[in-house]
Amino acid sequence: MFSEKEIQKIRNQFPILKEKVYSNPLIYMDNAATTQKPLKVIQATKNYYSTMNSNIHRGLHYLSHKATLYVENVRKKIQKFIHAKYSSEIIFTKGTTESINLVASSLASFIKKGDEIIISCIEHHSNLVPWQVLCKKKGAILKIISIYKNGFLKLKDFEFFISEKTKIVTISHISNVLGIINPVKNIIEKAHRYGALVLIDGAQVPSNLYLNMQDLNVDFYVFSAHKMYGPTGIGILYGKKKILEKLCPYQFGGEMIKNVSFDQTIYSDLPLKFEAGTPNIEGIVVWGAAIDFVKEIGISNIRSYKEKLLTYAMKRLKSIDGIQFYGYSSDFSEKSGIISFNLNKLHCFDVGSILDRLGIAVRTGHLCAQPLMNFFKVSGMIRVSFSVYNTFKEIDYLFESLLKAKKILLR
Ligand code: ALA
Repeated sequence: MFSEKEIQKIRNQFPILKEKVYSNPLIYMDNAATTQKPLKVIQATKNYYSTMNSNIHRGLHYLSHKATLYVENVRKKIQKFIHAKYSSEIIFTKGTTESINLVASSLASFIKKGDEIIISCIEHHSNLVPWQVLCKKKGAILKIISIYKNGFLKLKDFEFFISEKTKIVTISHISNVLGIINPVKNIIEKAHRYGALVLIDGAQVPSNLYLNMQDLNVDFYVFSAHKMYGPTGIGILYGKKKILEKLCPYQFGGEMIKNVSFDQTIYSDLPLKFEAGTPNIEGIVVWGAAIDFVKEIGISNIRSYKEKLLTYAMKRLKSIDGIQFYGYSSDFSEKSGIISFNLNKLHCFDVGSILDRLGIAVRTGHLCAQPLMNFFKVSGMIRVSFSVYNTFKEIDYLFESLLKAKKILLR
């Protein structure tokens, strides 16, 4: 647990937290959408453009070597961060969404009519639509695991659906709406017994949970840099080497080839086979600084501090008359720092707009999970999501602001 002084020290590393919003101090509680960036990351961006900007894997010159070295070092850093066996199992993409699209597109040739793909009803649209499109194209069937009212997966649905017909199981590790940590290890183990491949959408995970790809034994794992204090527009697909080697590239172009003639093309080895075109070099290099930041604070410290914030916030918010939570658990070790709720029958946009005027940034709406909104029979929710720089005082202010919003809107 961090002392107030330690949290202040962390906060001092985030210049944006000194911003004012309509003359109020900024209270940033939209961290599940994207986290703010520490000075280390901001400085790394400047450093990249001041000292190494050039294209990678292409030039003989000094700068190109330097940038290539940095990029490949970050790949190794990520390999270590998620305990992958080989650095070539780390494919750089635009982010979680592109990583899922890459897998769905590259697996398409292995899917035939009548095959089944299992997802769950809590998935973010980016872990639903690519599979829906694939099923439509190939005549495959999408099987959807439902949830209990408290937001936990109905694992008995999964046990019922899984069979030799299942080709892919794709589930989020932490729901972006409910904040519930799903039992993915168990799901992976069972899916493998039937020969199905498993993709885990880890968008909400990095810097929340310790990750070990070899222990999880997952086939594909995807996440972005920007939810772990890094830049937007960069993420990874982790894939098991022997599976990635069998897959067709997702895009074609420069650097993903070994040899091109008018008759045929021989692709590069991993990871470049999946990295056509000039990548987001700046993003990759700067992500390295974000990983250093997370490592310096420590994932377990971040996690236990966020658990304290969550416990405190739930205790306070629970006392608001008419609040309805989604994804409720009395055991906060099963949740990340995400709380989604509605207030009485108030529209989430109205509440969100008042919070905004008071300086509090939260996310409102369908949270990119319309089927889940349908399950709860709501058009949207208010989502508060914490990061390591949030404070108990900010939660008190959120509590008072929600009371204020209620008073204004219910009058
Ligand atoms: N996936 C992000 C969210 O849940 C954008 O807000």
